Amino acid sequence: MVKKNSITLFLIGVFLVFFQLNAQENLIVNTYNRTVKSLNGQWNYIVDPYENGFYNYRYEPFENQENPANGAFFTNAKPKDKTDLIEYDFDLSDVIEVPSDWNTQKENLYYYEGTVWYKKSFDFVKTNQTNRVFVYFEAVNYQADVYFNGKKLGKHIGGFTPFNFEVTDLLKESDNFLIVKVDNKRKKDAVPTLNTDWFNYGGITRDVKLIETSANFIQDYFIQLNPKNNQQISGFVQLNGTNIANKEVFITIPALKIKTKVVTNAKGKAAIELYSKKINYWSTKNPYLYDVILKFGDDELKDQIGFRTIKTNGQEIHLNNSKIFLKGISIHEESPIRGGRGYSVEDAQQLLNWAKELGCNYVRLAHYPHNEHMVRLADKMGILVWEENPVYWTIAWDNKETYKNAENQLSEVINRDKNRASVIIWSMANETPTSEPRNIFLTNLAKHTRALDPTRLISAALEQSNYQGDSSVRTIHDSFADVVDVLSFNQYVGWYDGLPEKCGQITWKITQNKPVLISEFGAGAKVGLHGDKLTRWTEEYQEDVYVQTLKMLEGIEQLQGFSPWILVDFKSPRRVLPKIQDGYNRKGLISDDGQKKKAFYVLKNFYDAKN
Ligand code: GCU
Repeated sequence: MVKKNSITLFLIGVFLVFFQLNAQENLIVNTYNRTVKSLNGQWNYIVDPYENGFYNYRYEPFENQENPANGAFFTNAKPKDKTDLIEYDFDLSDVIEVPSDWNTQKENLYYYEGTVWYKKSFDFVKTNQTNRVFVYFEAVNYQADVYFNGKKLGKHIGGFTPFNFEVTDLLKESDNFLIVKVDNKRKKDAVPTLNTDWFNYGGITRDVKLIETSANFIQDYFIQLNPKNNQQISGFVQLNGTNIANKEVFITIPALKIKTKVVTNAKGKAAIELYSKKINYWSTKNPYLYDVILKFGDDELKDQIGFRTIKTNGQEIHLNNSKIFLKGISIHEESPIRGGRGYSVEDAQQLLNWAKELGCNYVRLAHYPHNEHMVRLADKMGILVWEENPVYWTIAWDNKETYKNAENQLSEVINRDKNRASVIIWSMANETPTSEPRNIFLTNLAKHTRALDPTRLISAALEQSNYQGDSSVRTIHDSFADVVDVLSFNQYVGWYDGLPEKCGQITWKITQNKPVLISEFGAGAKVGLHGDKLTRWTEEYQEDVYVQTLKMLEGIEQLQGFSPWILVDFKSPRRVLPKIQDGYNRKGLISDDGQKKKAFYVLKNFYDAKN
């Protein structure tokens, strides 16, 4: 059932213009529910620290040559006869699993940072000759140069977000070869930059798939509740193809008895605006997902979407117009099962099960977009999600390319997850030093995010400081605090800042009339190491930090939740203390082999007691 009026038509216009200007070019959404051919499995690989397969001996890129020399690895050249000189051969080279990082698969690549070439050969017969075919990468860390049957498809920068390229015109029925030059070298002007406190896993770290579509197909859509009217479902649908103007797209939500059609504009885009008084709102206690079906010609796409509103109301956070306390935990995307970068449904399930066991209704996915399984599972499990862009510590704020890179990574995660009810907060950054260039950088990212997605909240993990020079009174002195919807900060009183009892000496003077989230607090402990609560690295010390911190934070009037650091011990090359850290950050409430530490139960009891 559909109703229209002039104001609504004006709003549609605004909606369309905004999305037109800011939409990420051609990212195909919801590959979860599309017909795909997986390219996961064994790939051949060549380790190329000197990038000998990319540059000639004059350090000129082969790909810039009219006829790239055989030395170019992306040509996958084979000797024509016994006299021919080719100094590499993918098919005789070792194999490696995709998806996964190379560090935990190959011992000699554990600390390797540089270029590795991947090659996958496959046959593919289209189901319909007029169809189009795309290769879709869920993530490649960090820079991917992608070639298909010897031709450059393009490049992608950013290790945690999806991208796709069309291969229709290059595709053969058999013996196709897809080659990816993966380079995870850390760089000053990159995002993230040189130093982080997590392991720089390299490789094709998430699924790779071929997507076959009709010549004209449904490429993108955004279907969410209008935050201002929880009986209105708004958004858009975007077609891709040469014949997409003035087309009917049918939208069906059977459980709401909604069946309607919209007509695209000259650019193949149509606004969606549906009404219902019978919406079963998605919430942490009732993670109800509707089947939503979009149909255009012979292209039909299904998704499971929850409808909820998330807003701030003064110092409170409101889910579906009622106040909610975010009982959270921070998580790194590391597989608790295999070690290494997490990528599978099982990895996600294990991490979110532990969060549920802890009594959480919320998780902070740090410090970069995690895989899509995490947010799709959070949708099903009723867990609220904070997603973060890897703008971490000291980024090259004045560098325009760095900004574009950061903005692009943000666009990609927003486009991938904008239909997920569980995702409520987009975080722009973590622990970034205040300065004018930084403030401008983050403020522009926030503006960009609001333009792309007006339905969610914006935050960032800021840092606290002394109030007017008095170290016993803490505050947030950061102009970016005026830009965010939710004021979040990390604090480590009792670990980096004094001993646990110091928590009792600290008061907070937070002047902003906004909801406050503590995005990090915690302490390190080696599982099984016991002693008095003043002995660092014992479970008792960590336990006491939690006891004291939970008491201290109650003193923050605007407190609406937190996500302590961190669910599970995780790998970090910065953590080298023998017999304690051994390459791990030990602030987990669970050890890397799955054992729960004493502090786990302190937080669980706190959450179980909090309604
Ligand atoms: C920081 C940072 C984390 C880091 C943590 C720690 O606050 O955001 O990435 O791991 O502190 O020092 O353990």
